[in-house]
Amino acid sequence: MEGATHGLEFCLAQADDFEQVMSISVDIYNGLDYLPVRYHNWLKEPLRRVILAKKEGRVVALVSVCVIDDGHTAVVEGLRVAPNERGKGIAGLIQRYALALIKSQFPSLEVRRYTRTGQLSPDVFTKFRLICSQEVLVIHFVAEELQPKLESVIGHLRGSGEEWEEPIQLGAGEVKKVFLDRRVVEGVLPGGTIILDWIPYKPSDSNLEILLKRGITWMADSTVDPTVLSLCSNAYKVPEGANHRLNIDIFGKNFPQARAQFVFQLRKALRLLQGPIYCLIYMDLSLWSNMQSFCQTAFGLSYQRLLEGQKVLEAEL
Ligand SMILES: CC(C)(COP(=O)(O)OP(=O)(O)OC[C@H]1O[C@@H](n2cnc3c(N)ncnc32)[C@H](O)[C@@H]1OP(=O)(O)O)[C@@H](O)C(=O)NCCC(=O)NCCS
Repeated sequence: MEGATHGLEFCLAQADDFEQVMSISVDIYNGLDYLPVRYHNWLKEPLRRVILAKKEGRVVALVSVCVIDDGHTAVVEGLRVAPNERGKGIAGLIQRYALALIKSQFPSLEVRRYTRTGQLSPDVFTKFRLICSQEVLVIHFVAEELQPKLESVIGHLRGSGEEWEEPIQLGAGEVKKVFLDRRVVEGVLPGGTIILDWIPYKPSDSNLEILLKRGITWMADSTVDPTVLSLCSNAYKVPEGANHRLNIDIFGKNFPQARAQFVFQLRKALRLLQGPIYCLIYMDLSLWSNMQSFCQTAFGLSYQRLLEGQKVLEAEL
């Protein structure tokens, strides 16, 4: 078995591996790790495999691979190696094992995709195609304190005239019409991809059927000629203190429209939330500095450099 020479054993993760998985995850994503809330559900998903590498019976690494795009794409997620085992090539070994396993079980798979963060070495681009990049702005606030400010900012923007257009919340039928529109796929979606909370989906009828069951709030500036679209999924608890993490993915490059959807997504999400929240806003790099100064001037929120932007990479499987 691959890995044998490194004293590794690979296996499918089980519910009772949870504590050990958490113990190798303490420093991940500066406390904004999604795995603690997702781990047990991931184990039940029929199109996902969660693989562990163990050394002398102890968990030293985890990776998950999920099949999307009607069986065409394997998405690699959740990769982590125990801090004292890093730099020994274990990330490469566990991924190769997981990808070979998933390919043997889903022969229709043709490509693998990753959403990576941080500076990537030039070497990475000899192995992968870059599909798109999104920048991230992380802001931290207390829901009850932000709500009144948000109402007054929305009132002010509405009164400001030309640059304001009321965002439209899309129903299921409109979501398909808008997100499958060729002009949107080619001109608005980054790399023709719907990125939802780190997973890059191809715009297709079947992917949208899956996403429409997820309780996402879908917004657009227009259903006829959209230039900006956004998605907000349900907030979830993260290890950092008693915080929730809220993700808003924005596609398109028009700042006033992006700002309008950001405040509307936030207003809708905050109706259900209390206490401290990390809000992660993913957007085109060209919007980042405008969005950052808007959050600073409108709400007095300075950004937190907790995460770096995301890059979607693809290679043959
Ligand atoms: C990033 C991390 C998983 C790398 O693990 P590692 O075992 O120390 O990595 P190594 O440099 O020894 O291994 C090199 C191999 O891992 C791959 N690799 C390294 N970082 C990777 C990443 N973020 N995503 C995918 N593959 C990665 C390399 O491509 C290389 O593969 P190859 O052997 O096929 O050439 C580890 O540092 C970690 O757990 N960090 C904290 C969690 C994290 O940042 N996860 C990444 C999410 S994007």
